[in-house]
Amino acid sequence: MKKEFSLELRERTEECEAVLRRFLPREEGMQAQVIRAVNYSLLAGGKRLRPLLMHASYVLLMRTEDTGAERLLRAFMAAMEMIHTFSLCHDDLPCMDGDRYRRGQESTWFRFGEDMGTLAGDALSLYAFQLVSGTFQRELGAAERERLSGRFVRALFRLSECSGIDGMLGGQAVDVEKTGKPLTEAELLFIYRLKTGALCAGALEIGGMLAGASEQEVCLLREIGEQVGIAFQIQDDILDETSTEEELGKPIHSDAGNGKTTYVRLHGIEGAEQEVRRLSEEALSRLRALSPSENRRAFLEELIRYLIHRKS
Ligand code: IPE
Ligand code: IPE
Ligand code: MG
Ligand code: MG
Ligand code: MG
Repeated sequence: MKKEFSLELRERTEECEAVLRRFLPREEGMQAQVIRAVNYSLLAGGKRLRPLLMHASYVLLMRTEDTGAERLLRAFMAAMEMIHTFSLCHDDLPCMDGDRYRRGQESTWFRFGEDMGTLAGDALSLYAFQLVSGTFQRELGAAERERLSGRFVRALFRLSECSGIDGMLGGQAVDVEKTGKPLTEAELLFIYRLKTGALCAGALEIGGMLAGASEQEVCLLREIGEQVGIAFQIQDDILDETSTEEELGKPIHSDAGNGKTTYVRLHGIEGAEQEVRRLSEEALSRLRALSPSENRRAFLEELIRYLIHRKS
């Protein structure tokens, strides 16, 4: 019998949580404080959307059971959540959005100080690469390494690309530069595609790459991920205006307070809601082109629909 989506989402989120815990750095040594800040920010709990997306696209496209590829997948899932958490640690800093509350607790800089908050973000971004390369080197046998090296390098490249100047960080940089200034629609969409779309696309693509997907499949995954990511950011802007701090686990009205031009500001709540639906429908139709199997698509389809209606 088909599992109910909410139950499956809960179970898969718990699996992501367990994967993440397995890769946490140990809080020891003279530098223990920065590691405490790292683990504090990671364990606060988030929706774990990006590892969920990565796992879902792996399952969508995998051909046969492959324990080596699955080991790499788990490392990349944890790494992607670390990169995302790094983006949040820095996004909340006083020099950026200046938010004191995140994931239902004090934001990392507010709890540990600006210096440690900054270093925790840096540490997360670098530890992500330490853990994926360490897994490849130490946890795969020689034959597995040889067989999977192509997939690994492809995924590693994509992880760095979607995180840095051509991805999330590039989007955040333009977001900061344009704060308080009027934006054209094209500039706004550029920011959203990079600051939020890139990690969602990277997550789907890396899941596909580790499953051995073709260039064409990876290309579709990127388009789906960017659309889902832009829709997700527009929904985030809507919730910033319509939700509560308790429900979101982060401050509301942060965008208006910081003078951000958002999609909601340009098109109103209704226009924004309409665009979230339109983008999600387009992503769903690309997903149908990607896989003919209704069964295999089911979870990812439901996940995309859930994102439209989410309240936090
Ligand atoms: C928040 O991301 C930042 C945006 C890109 C909008 P999430 O809403 O995925 O945050 P968590 O991981 O659930 O805390
Ligand atoms: C940030 O967008 C996207 C990131 C890359 C962190 P926001 O600044 O709107 O994210 P929140 O609302 O603080 O989570
Ligand atoms: Mg921001
Ligand atoms: Mg912010
Ligand atoms: Mg926001």
